[in-house]
Amino acid sequence: MQPASKLLTLILLIFMGTELTQVLPANPEESWQVYSSAQDSEGRCVCTVVAPQQSMCSRDARTKQLRQLLEKVQNMTQSIQVLDQRTQRDLQYVEKMEVQLRGLETKFRQVEENHKQNIAKQYKAIKAKMEELRPLIPVLEEYKADAKLVLQFKEEVQNLTSVLSELQEEMGAYDYEELHNRVSNLEERLRACMQKLACGKLTGISDPITIKTSGSRFGSWMTDPLAPEGDTRVWYMDGYHNNRFVREYKSMHDFMTSDNFTSHRLPHPWSGTGQVVYNGSIYFNKFQSHVIIKFDFRTSSISKSRQLDYAGFNNAYHYAWGGHSDIDLMVDEGGLWAVYATNQNAGNIVISKLNPNTLQIIKSWTTNHPKRSAGESFMICGTLYVTNGYSGGTKVYYAYSTNSSTYEYIDIAFQNKYSHISMLDYNPRDRALYAWNNGHQVLYNVTLFHVIRSEEL
Ligand SMILES: *[C@@H]1O[C@H](CO)[C@@H](O)[C@H](O)[C@H]1NC(C)=O
Ligand SMILES: *[C@@H]1O[C@H](CO)[C@@H](O)[C@H](O)[C@H]1NC(C)=O
Ligand SMILES: *[C@@H]1O[C@H](CO)[C@@H](O)[C@H](O)[C@H]1NC(C)=O
Ligand SMILES: *[C@@H]1O[C@H](CO)[C@@H](O)[C@H](O)[C@H]1NC(C)=O
Ligand SMILES: *[C@@H]1O[C@H](CO)[C@@H](O)[C@H](O)[C@H]1NC(C)=O
Ligand SMILES: *[C@@H]1O[C@H](CO)[C@@H](O)[C@H](O)[C@H]1NC(C)=O
Repeated sequence: MQPASKLLTLILLIFMGTELTQVLPANPEESWQVYSSAQDSEGRCVCTVVAPQQSMCSRDARTKQLRQLLEKVQNMTQSIQVLDQRTQRDLQYVEKMEVQLRGLETKFRQVEENHKQNIAKQYKAIKAKMEELRPLIPVLEEYKADAKLVLQFKEEVQNLTSVLSELQEEMGAYDYEELHNRVSNLEERLRACMQKLACGKLTGISDPITIKTSGSRFGSWMTDPLAPEGDTRVWYMDGYHNNRFVREYKSMHDFMTSDNFTSHRLPHPWSGTGQVVYNGSIYFNKFQSHVIIKFDFRTSSISKSRQLDYAGFNNAYHYAWGGHSDIDLMVDEGGLWAVYATNQNAGNIVISKLNPNTLQIIKSWTTNHPKRSAGESFMICGTLYVTNGYSGGTKVYYAYSTNSSTYEYIDIAFQNKYSHISMLDYNPRDRALYAWNNGHQVLYNVTLFHVIRSEEL
């Protein structure tokens, strides 16, 4: 059987659950069309599938989930296809250009060394051309990175397919609940994959929308980027120290229109406004310490707590606005991050990728940006964006890419409507920035630009 049709059969089996024997058609291919599958001659992943007629599946609510899952698989494989085609095409051009460019640069250097006096005029002409071409180099580097990404996606999809095949073989050994959990897990991986596909560089921030006006000058609020479908609970923490009550609003709508909330009492007060709610837990910096605590809302208990080694705390390395904002936790498409500063890095920002279960540091990056002169910072697609201040005219002006361990100065202005920003964090699900602006909870949309664009060259 082709891997794609295996997948369909498998999902069908899972979602049909107990009714399996009555409902399952003798030959799944009769109802599930596989347009193309698995791999082409160059090993590229192409697996387009089409769900069966609605009438066949409408009897069970779970089949709706199934259809959505299939649609996601379909969407993802289509995206990968498009990305792959573009990358392959552009890469050929890019590689040719790169060789030419580098050749020209070498030649140019030789000319410069050997004939300094006689060919001044030609020299000038070549130099002008060279300068024109120079900005292309970083673009070329990014194209190469994109090509690599496509390879990685291909591998991930292949892995998913083989996991599904394995599952199918083990079918007999699992009950519905277990299988459902496994499918949810796969779905999560697919979603993560989709998000990565849509990743890019920050190029713009929209005008803000004020969601609510409440609380003190300082605080933080957010939604969980991994919350299940339909869960739009809003989490709200007023103040930056000596508070330990987290408010839970049932939905964004409730948050906007009412003051109806549930209070959760944390076992310790927090420091700063760097908390983040991720996959049902809140991660926060314990007051007057460099301890990070993971508190699970489902069990109302601490599931992990760990020291963030060398991290400054207690206003040693706060953001420009102060407020014990030494340790800023955040989540992007790639997972959980801590942003802080250390003596070892001379008070400059350190970025650490954390394991969300153990809170151990997976990897750290040291930047050259002083933490105390940063307004706020947020992470998108593995790049940390730093703002220039918390009051007055604000802009994002420094970006550190953990992919390439390089930084650049940029200039992306955004409106600081209420003149005091004490929290600014990206939510990878909404692709929005959540901000606490002087007792107002505001949202900004972001524009991300993916480098693959054939018309650019
Ligand atoms: C798949 O893509 C279509 C068109 O872009 C979109 O309308 C639909 O919501 C997507 N489905 C899923 C499950 O993401
Ligand atoms: C795919 O699976 C292999 C073997 O289990 C693993 O080494 C590899 O990292 C996986 N690749 C991705 C992209 O998940
Ligand atoms: C950085 O790498 C991650 C993972 O490979 C990818 O999802 C993301 O798009 C990359 N970010 C940028 C800005 O290229
Ligand atoms: C407040 O929220 C709870 C549960 O979240 C709900 O049962 C109750 O009806 C709400 N009260 C008002 C006045 O909206
Ligand atoms: C989210 O939590 C669920 C249940 O605790 C777990 O199975 C899943 O692996 C978690 N996902 C991530 C990305 O951590
Ligand atoms: C962001 O974009 C969405 C979709 O276009 C829109 O509904 C929403 O109001 C926007 N939010 C902001 C803060 O501009």
